[in-house]
Amino acid sequence: MQPDFNDRFFPMTTALRILVINGPNLNMLGTREPEVYGYDTLGDIETRCRAVTDEAGAALDWMQSNSEAVILDRIQQAVGNTDWIVINAAALTHTSVAVRDALAMFNGGKIEVHLSNTHAREAFRQTSMISPVVNGVVMGFGAMSYIMAIRGILEMATETKTHG
Ligand code: DQA
Repeated sequence: MQPDFNDRFFPMTTALRILVINGPNLNMLGTREPEVYGYDTLGDIETRCRAVTDEAGAALDWMQSNSEAVILDRIQQAVGNTDWIVINAAALTHTSVAVRDALAMFNGGKIEVHLSNTHAREAFRQTSMISPVVNGVVMGFGAMSYIMAIRGILEMATETKTHG
């Protein structure tokens, strides 16, 4: 990896700061179409992610909003104080040029996550406005998609510190 990639995404001196953003209707997880999204609530998923970041000494900021504007504001606020954004933009994934533009402007690392494999679903879910502006995508593993994204970020940070 290039040094500037490492410097930008993996600070050597401070704890890694990860922001997880959840979009519309994800506050209803647990009861919302459990056959598609599973029985974990968003709180359950947050607890599992926090266990991983706590163990690694990373800082986790977690938010959910049904409002596109609130999500845009949060991405803008993250500039300069957050190393990685993990985002499940939910339905906004497929519609929001504004979320895409905000993510494009954010100069840290970015991972798109989805509980379901959106490519195996309705045609309108098979397009992501945000995939072209993120570093990676994890989907189809249910709640584990979030944990894999966070573990992947932490793993890369460890690799970077070990191997430069
Ligand atoms: C989702 C997939 C989206 O298509 C849908 O609108 C969601 C959840 C997922 O995590 O699988 O709300 O992002």
